[in-house]
Amino acid sequence: MIKAPRGTRDLLPPDTARWNFVEAAARDVFRAYNFHEIRTPIFESTELFARGVGEDTDIVSKEMFTWEDRGRAESDRGQSLTLRPENTAGVVRAYIEHKLWDRGLNKLFYIGPQFRRERPQKGRYRQFFQIGAEILGPSAAGSESPTRDAEILELLATFLDRIGITGWTLELNSVGCPNDRATYNEALRKALGPLAPKMCVDCQRRAVTNPLRVFDCKVPEDQPIIETLPRISQYLDEPCRKHFEEVQSILKAVGVPYKLNDRLVRGLDYYTRTAFEFTHGALGAQNAILGGGRYDGLSESLEGPPAPGIGFAIGEDRLVMSLNEAAENLQKKPDVYIAALGSGMNIEAARLARELRRQDVITELGDENFRLKKSLETASKIGARYALILGENEVKSQTFAVKNLATGEQVSVPRADLPKRIKADS
Ligand code: HAM
Repeated sequence: MIKAPRGTRDLLPPDTARWNFVEAAARDVFRAYNFHEIRTPIFESTELFARGVGEDTDIVSKEMFTWEDRGRAESDRGQSLTLRPENTAGVVRAYIEHKLWDRGLNKLFYIGPQFRRERPQKGRYRQFFQIGAEILGPSAAGSESPTRDAEILELLATFLDRIGITGWTLELNSVGCPNDRATYNEALRKALGPLAPKMCVDCQRRAVTNPLRVFDCKVPEDQPIIETLPRISQYLDEPCRKHFEEVQSILKAVGVPYKLNDRLVRGLDYYTRTAFEFTHGALGAQNAILGGGRYDGLSESLEGPPAPGIGFAIGEDRLVMSLNEAAENLQKKPDVYIAALGSGMNIEAARLARELRRQDVITELGDENFRLKKSLETASKIGARYALILGENEVKSQTFAVKNLATGEQVSVPRADLPKRIKADS
């Protein structure tokens, strides 16, 4: 039997109703905050992620689905391509390619699949979905302002509250800028000198190439050592410290609770200043529902103009897992089941169904060969609110027997009144 590839899964009804519910809610929230949708390709040049996300990150060094794409003609050069492991690099690439700075501040959102070759487990998949957003633009348009950081975080709190997710924690940190990062990296390297030989091979390498990445280590034996390392919070320069304080002042003023966590550095190289995750207790080991932060230098590292930015990505799979709402309650049931009775009635039923569906009445059809009993049973089984009986007499009189399947009450309704009548108590 051919099965879905390891780490991927099929999303089936009624569960898909939960996905639609969170996506619709996200779109509503994005609208209120004046974000607009962007769609970028699901594969990009491998170089984009190597330069954008960083060679030393787990994502780029271990988890990408990459292939050499042969050209089909001389005009079509071969190149290394990668299924996107995340969408921020793609958005910034599009910003540069389409000169989006001409539009001032860009507030963009996306919803779509991402791909990482991780070890699959609950809440961790090789194809997973993100709902994400990015604010970026020239500094003069306000992209660097702490207002933006606070706006993003407040939007997220509003969104989670709206879809009924309680018990989340916002973990907040500032990872500084190139200016203070140099001093901090130096301090980290120095501290790691005598410690690294006792750590895992990955950390031994990170200690040399990119010491900040040591904080991504998941090896339990390394954790007590990592606890002793200097923290970025002690190395922030004055502008970074001030920026971070302003973000926090706004969060306090608007009433978004947060917890400072100076071990939070995020697993991607592009972050500067504000970095955050929202975690949820019910999720177990993979407890981050979402993550994000500022990336003020990312555009330049992709050969674009300065374009400070901040964004986030919600792991939609994990978000849906922490949703309390039962899928069955979110999936819309049919309003009416048309029970056609007798030969020639399929045609009449199709005609009536077309009329009703055009008025947004959710309509399901039987078959003229079904006995009435079978039709009524099917109508109840699929959860229709009404069964509509359509036989030769009804077609002649243009009046239909409409049976309320919950109460058993049956009334006669003229054709023109059907949509209103059926939708009246929906
Ligand atoms: P990230 O932390 O790598 O950040 O991913 C964001 C979220 O995606 C995670 O918190 C998690 O919920 C979900 N996620 C990641 N990997 C998996 C997986 N294998 N299975 C299921 N869910 C997963 C980013 O991707 C950044 N681009 C976020 C960002 C946007 N930063 C600035 N702008």
